[in-house]
Amino acid sequence: MNSSGNDRRPLAVERVRQAVEGSRLWSSVDYVESIGSTNSEMALRAQHGARHGSLLVTDEQTAGRGRRDRGWSSPLYSSVMVSAVLRPDVEGARWGWLPLIIGIAIAETVKAHDVDSVGVKWPNDVMVADQKVAGILCEVVNTSGGPAVVAGFGLNVDQRNEELPGEAATSLHLAGVRADRDVLLADVLHRWERLYGAWRGDEPAVTASYTSLSTTLGEPVRAELPDNSVIEGTAVRLDASGSLVVVAGDAEHVLPAADVVHVRSRNNSD
Ligand code: BTN
Repeated sequence: MNSSGNDRRPLAVERVRQAVEGSRLWSSVDYVESIGSTNSEMALRAQHGARHGSLLVTDEQTAGRGRRDRGWSSPLYSSVMVSAVLRPDVEGARWGWLPLIIGIAIAETVKAHDVDSVGVKWPNDVMVADQKVAGILCEVVNTSGGPAVVAGFGLNVDQRNEELPGEAATSLHLAGVRADRDVLLADVLHRWERLYGAWRGDEPAVTASYTSLSTTLGEPVRAELPDNSVIEGTAVRLDASGSLVVVAGDAEHVLPAADVVHVRSRNNSD
């Protein structure tokens, strides 16, 4: 079993390919053992015409990227790291939902392994209790075929405490999950595909799924905006573009992208 270190081995990519064979979304699954950043590589490939639904999986990133210029790293063979090129036939105003549906897909996968404390923290984190287990990075890339999205996520699977960036992070191993990374990835990809189809069809079910998993909605929050201004209020809902609506006093603020601190949470940052 691939957990906690000693028997770590490369991700069984052939099993992932078999699992998504015949998929209506996933068109190819490439694998490299080590790379700078799968998101950066897929941005280049998107500019060179990579197809909708192409995937790149790796076992190690030497320059992995998180939101707001943060890094993302994990020991070799210990996490799931993947990026996809998507060319959605949906109006760009709704693309803000993409990181949210990926978060639902990851959270559902984790929940299916009996981790009941899993939730999604707006906009891009999957949490186990109040510790982050996965992060999502979606970036819009201009290509000759029109704008595309590079959507990547990292899911901590086998890391021990000392291999994580701090106590605000956790891994599935630490949450008691024993599962191979290829199985986890295949499961997330199946759920992502289903949710992507529902999102294209504008199904309210996606909003309902997000709401039921959300650790942010209904909570008092402190949101740090990209321009460094701060809004404190209650997170009340998401709008059609995936933005978070926060009520502060009499005012409603629509936040397209922000770092959100849950005021009652033990860890006051992500
Ligand atoms: C965050 O939490 O800020 C987002 C982290 C996203 C990490 C993933 S790992 C695969 C893909 N490639 C990257 O360089 N980043 C994303």
